[in-house]
Amino acid sequence: MNNTPYDYKEIVPYLVDWYEANARILPWRLEPTPYHVWISEIMLQQTRVEAVRGYYDRFLTALPTIRDLANAEEDVLLKLWEGLGYYSRVRNLQKAARVIMEEYEGELPCSYEELLKLPGIGTYTAGAIASIAYGIPVAAVDGNVLRIAKRLAGSFDDIAKAKVKKELEGIFTAITPKGHAGAFNQSLMDLGATICVPNGKPNCQVCPVMHLCLAFKQDLQMQIPVKAKKKERRIEEKTIYVIEFENKILLHKRGSKGLLAGLWELPNMQGKSTIDKVQEQIQQEIPEAEVTVQSLGEAKHIFSHVEWHMTGFHILFAKREQMLHFCGQLNALITQKVDNSGSQGNIFSEDTNQLVARKEIKETFALPSAFDKYKIWEEK
Ligand code: ADE
Repeated sequence: MNNTPYDYKEIVPYLVDWYEANARILPWRLEPTPYHVWISEIMLQQTRVEAVRGYYDRFLTALPTIRDLANAEEDVLLKLWEGLGYYSRVRNLQKAARVIMEEYEGELPCSYEELLKLPGIGTYTAGAIASIAYGIPVAAVDGNVLRIAKRLAGSFDDIAKAKVKKELEGIFTAITPKGHAGAFNQSLMDLGATICVPNGKPNCQVCPVMHLCLAFKQDLQMQIPVKAKKKERRIEEKTIYVIEFENKILLHKRGSKGLLAGLWELPNMQGKSTIDKVQEQIQQEIPEAEVTVQSLGEAKHIFSHVEWHMTGFHILFAKREQMLHFCGQLNALITQKVDNSGSQGNIFSEDTNQLVARKEIKETFALPSAFDKYKIWEEK
């Protein structure tokens, strides 16, 4: 057993040279201002580079400065984020932008410690912004760096452990080269994305640090890194209702806490229903109902801690009072209140329920991608 600690310092010049010659061309690398780097790093949390590309340009065109971000209307912000998921990220972006306007004269702080104090910024993101935008020699350790580091050292440490990450943050901060901090951290990002990949065999033959990699020497690339399994996700069965009357669809606003907090959604209930049960439910409530019920099929959506297994139904009402009656019953079941007394425009006066014209939904409401399968108003 060899107990000599791995000397990570040796990898630095190889990676910096490799990055200078091979850096991926990515939109946020063209003009890496602190604001641009910040937005890209938040978008890239839990999201693939390819998925972020389009969002990044659109976001900065709509909100070119931190002031614009601080002042943006919530619905505009959510619309710009629609489909990226993990919406708390964009809410935190705005919270941080407001702090920056109030406490830092509109400029992102130029210090790792101050960046860490902002909402939504953890050690990785603070390290990435500090090094890429300000050239501060500090590490940005994420899953990529953990994997690369443990392969290099031929180590079976469990990378799910906070202690392992903390230790590497110390080591990598110590070796980050002054003058090339951004290049070094981004070389690790690119190496992890293109060569020392997480799924399947890494492309060791083209790796700039192959000669320094103990996992490669011992053919252990597929055994390392070791990562303890997370708890299994909870599965929730849900029935989704697309309730329509005169080309308008009923939307419901979720509560301010928990999953998808404050976002609009299609009304839904816990449990799996069938077309027979839905029809029976309507018949029982409204025996004279003039209604067409169609199955929209099943869909699955995976969040970090929970999976939704959904079954959807399109319920098209011909009579307004019948639709209101059914929604009232449904709403009581979802434990939300529906005000059915209004008569002009949106017939629900509650902020939490709106009947919205099909063509307005896409422009104005940020509906989570969990409901994609049931967005019958969108062309597929
Ligand atoms: N992943 C996270 N941050 C990144 C960046 N700045 N460039 C490429 N991939 C990344």
